[in-house]
Amino acid sequence: MTEAATIRCQFQVPFGFDVLFTERVFSRANPLLRRLLLTGQRNAREKLLVVVEQPIVALMPGLPEEIRAYFAASPDVELVAAPVELPGGELLKNHYASIEQLHARIEQHHLSRHSYVAAIGGGALLDVVGFAAATAHRGIRHIRFPTTTLSQADGGVGVKNAINAFGKKNFVGTFTPPFAVINDSEFLRFLPDTRKSAGYIEAVKVGLIRDAGFFSEIETMADALNRFEPAAMHRLIHRSAELHVQHICRGGDPFEFGAARPLDFGHWAAHKLEQLSAFRITHSEAVAIGIALDVIYSRNAGYLSPADAERILALIRKLRFALFGPELLRGDAESERALLGGLEEFREHLGGELTITLLEGVGRGFEVHEISPEGVLRAIKELRERDQPLAEHE
Ligand SMILES: NC(=O)c1ccc[n+]([C@@H]2O[C@H](COP(=O)([O-])OP(=O)(O)OC[C@H]3O[C@@H](n4cnc5c(N)ncnc54)[C@H](O)[C@@H]3O)[C@@H](O)[C@H]2O)c1
Ligand SMILES: [Zn+2]
Repeated sequence: MTEAATIRCQFQVPFGFDVLFTERVFSRANPLLRRLLLTGQRNAREKLLVVVEQPIVALMPGLPEEIRAYFAASPDVELVAAPVELPGGELLKNHYASIEQLHARIEQHHLSRHSYVAAIGGGALLDVVGFAAATAHRGIRHIRFPTTTLSQADGGVGVKNAINAFGKKNFVGTFTPPFAVINDSEFLRFLPDTRKSAGYIEAVKVGLIRDAGFFSEIETMADALNRFEPAAMHRLIHRSAELHVQHICRGGDPFEFGAARPLDFGHWAAHKLEQLSAFRITHSEAVAIGIALDVIYSRNAGYLSPADAERILALIRKLRFALFGPELLRGDAESERALLGGLEEFREHLGGELTITLLEGVGRGFEVHEISPEGVLRAIKELRERDQPLAEHE
């Protein structure tokens, strides 16, 4: 074949979306959503399907009627049906049936590529609805309303969606930027306390790798955050979401073609720990331990000063996260192998070279391509010592 036989096609598509902050987005007096929908308006009246998490409707029984009344008063958008209610949480991601159900609704109501599919729920429901919206007609405009601290500060503001398959997390999914994300603080009021603080640790993580000033701010706000004061929670969510979104839109690799995943700092051990504990340890609890592990490892390897390491571990503790889980170190060779296997799984997930983010200071992450298994075990042993409940010392 000669070179002349090649037809080359190259193009760029401009992507962009806003993350908007508000309170009580469906209150009739709140114009934010109506204005947003006008920005996507053509001549026709666009259709909108809303999907909402059942547990949220149980806590806010007036919500479906509020949504209906909001759109009844908006001439530009047609709400095609009462909000579709789905159970939330990780289980929803394990079955394809919910995708099929959503595709059937989209077909039944004759939504087009210019219509909207809105999702109100935690990160799991957003992933499911986002995937259904991205695949019906090869992509329908999708508006996200994350309802957990974690999804407002981290998972819900990005460009990914997925469901789990073949026992693997996020195995089937797409990179599809949403039409918009709306962070409504009202939803957070109904979260149980542990879920309220779940998002804190991802904010600590992104501060640690990107923004020392933000890390200091979280230190200053820690008491207010522990009391779940709305102003402190709002500030934490806003800056964390901003840093996550900046990484996507300015980091040069929004669809993750490369191997580096700096926002996954602390996550290689966290993913494994969630799995080893059969998900007794939640994602945020596991991330807190994973960060502590990589902090000690960074200090022992001479990258991070002992003072910085102490400062970071103190904040994690102050925000009431444990530094150790017994599943990390059962003391036998097999469990050691299982944990270290997490490094290999992480490499596989990245699709090539192992790339782990470590710290050389607060706000300064950097990448390494090799991790010493002995160093990891040493760090884990130190975490176990530090986390020892007082009674066991006595
Ligand atoms: N797409 C991405 O880029 C991305 C990034 C990070 C995480 N994620 C995904 O996000 C999921 C985790 O999200 P999550 O932490 O939001 O958990 P979640 O979606 O599993 O929700 C946790 C629980 O909180 C309940 N809930 C949600 N909102 C509530 C509210 N306002 N009041 C009371 N209860 C409420 C849910 O019903 C559920 O039981 C995981 O599946 C993860 O893979 C996706
Ligand atoms: Zn995470």
